[in-house]
Amino acid sequence: MQQTREVWGSKLGFILAAAGSAIGLGNIWKFPYITGENGGASFVLVYLICIAVIGLPVLIAEILIGRTTQRNPVGAFYKLSHSKFWAAVGGMGVVAGFLILSFYAIIAGWSIGYIVEAINGNFFRWPEPVAAADHFNSLVTDLPWIFGYFAFFMVLTMIIVFSGVQKGIERASKIMMPILFILLIILMIRGLTLDGAAKGLDFLWNPDWSKITAGTVLLALGHAFFTLSLGMGAMLTYGSYMSEKDSIPGAALQIVILDTLIALIAGTAIFTSVFAVGLDPNAGPGLIFHTLPGVFTKMPGGYFFSILFFIALTIAALTSSISLLEVVVAYFVDELNWKRHNAAIILSAIIFSLGVPSVLSFNVLADFKIFGLDFFGLVDFLASNILLPLGGLFIAVFVAWVWGFDKVIPNLRKGAEKFIDHHPIMSGAWKIFLKYLSPVLIFLVFLYSIGILQDIFNLF
Ligand code: PHE
Repeated sequence: MQQTREVWGSKLGFILAAAGSAIGLGNIWKFPYITGENGGASFVLVYLICIAVIGLPVLIAEILIGRTTQRNPVGAFYKLSHSKFWAAVGGMGVVAGFLILSFYAIIAGWSIGYIVEAINGNFFRWPEPVAAADHFNSLVTDLPWIFGYFAFFMVLTMIIVFSGVQKGIERASKIMMPILFILLIILMIRGLTLDGAAKGLDFLWNPDWSKITAGTVLLALGHAFFTLSLGMGAMLTYGSYMSEKDSIPGAALQIVILDTLIALIAGTAIFTSVFAVGLDPNAGPGLIFHTLPGVFTKMPGGYFFSILFFIALTIAALTSSISLLEVVVAYFVDELNWKRHNAAIILSAIIFSLGVPSVLSFNVLADFKIFGLDFFGLVDFLASNILLPLGGLFIAVFVAWVWGFDKVIPNLRKGAEKFIDHHPIMSGAWKIFLKYLSPVLIFLVFLYSIGILQDIFNLF
């Protein structure tokens, strides 16, 4: 089990890779549409509070478990607790990695397909939302199209993870993240300079307090987990390649700021554009694939910007998917002594097979429902709404109550001596948040996710 473990080449490499994991479909596809569905600015405000109060403390905890143990999630929990129960909690993360990637890569595949659509000028042939939605449906029911791009995206993910931590993940992140930032800033400037952009800004930035409900809070918290890649060991695994010379609180803060900034930049780009052309922001998951293509046809330079947009979406998805595959690969390499190359190929193939029923749920199996959800919806729900919050809850409880702060703080201090010694209030707040606030709030999200509280809240 003691083979030499890879490490990040530099602190910047770790930050870009971890920010790459965080910044993904969650920021560019999910955040804008749930903001649209939940009244805009009020949701954004609650989301920002959740990120600061729960997201950041849990992120620090998760990276710390990884860096201290230098193991995959299963090995990490076992090393610190010698308990099978906690090893199983790590195992839940590995399972979540399989499941999330199996549907994440499908949407990422559409994004690649939409780069091609954009280049072919197809958005101009179906500019109205209804026609664009029909066109979308004709694509996802075309089996070679949907399977082809899904497979293509999985191969890209596999190649990067196959190449290793430094030569694959770190190098890819260092190239792709700056490109992503530049593309999104260009798209934001395009949105802001359209006539009527102000309405979009208003929607995103002017909170209506009356719209904040318990449901909004819990939804925002759930999304905070997804967008920061928390609760399934991705940040733990990336943290396991981190040096003890670097500061975890510092790195975590930078990751959180980058992730939040990108969600807001993407939100600004999308809402200013949608409002400027007079369309409805409340389009649900179809916002990006049904509404946005039409939006591009109505703005100056739209052909060009539509291509940039789907390239940005694909890059964002790829730097996240590699972190999902890495969790699974790290487990098989550390615990079962697999070679990284074999693990990357075999596990990608398994994840692809796992995705087959999800792909079919957009076409052949569209009418096949379990608990009212199709297979894709079911896997998404199981992973995002059950495994992630539960994993986050366990991480907070583990660090605060099981591992214990007397052992935790000396490890956290490594690389952050000055910060911890000079800001006792900050580390004190971190302890309290992790010990009480995070577990209670996450538990509520979890109950809400599984619908127990949903009925109660709907009564009001
Ligand atoms: N954070 C990623 C996103 O926002 C999704 C993700 C979740 C990645 C969990 C890794 C682990 O798209």
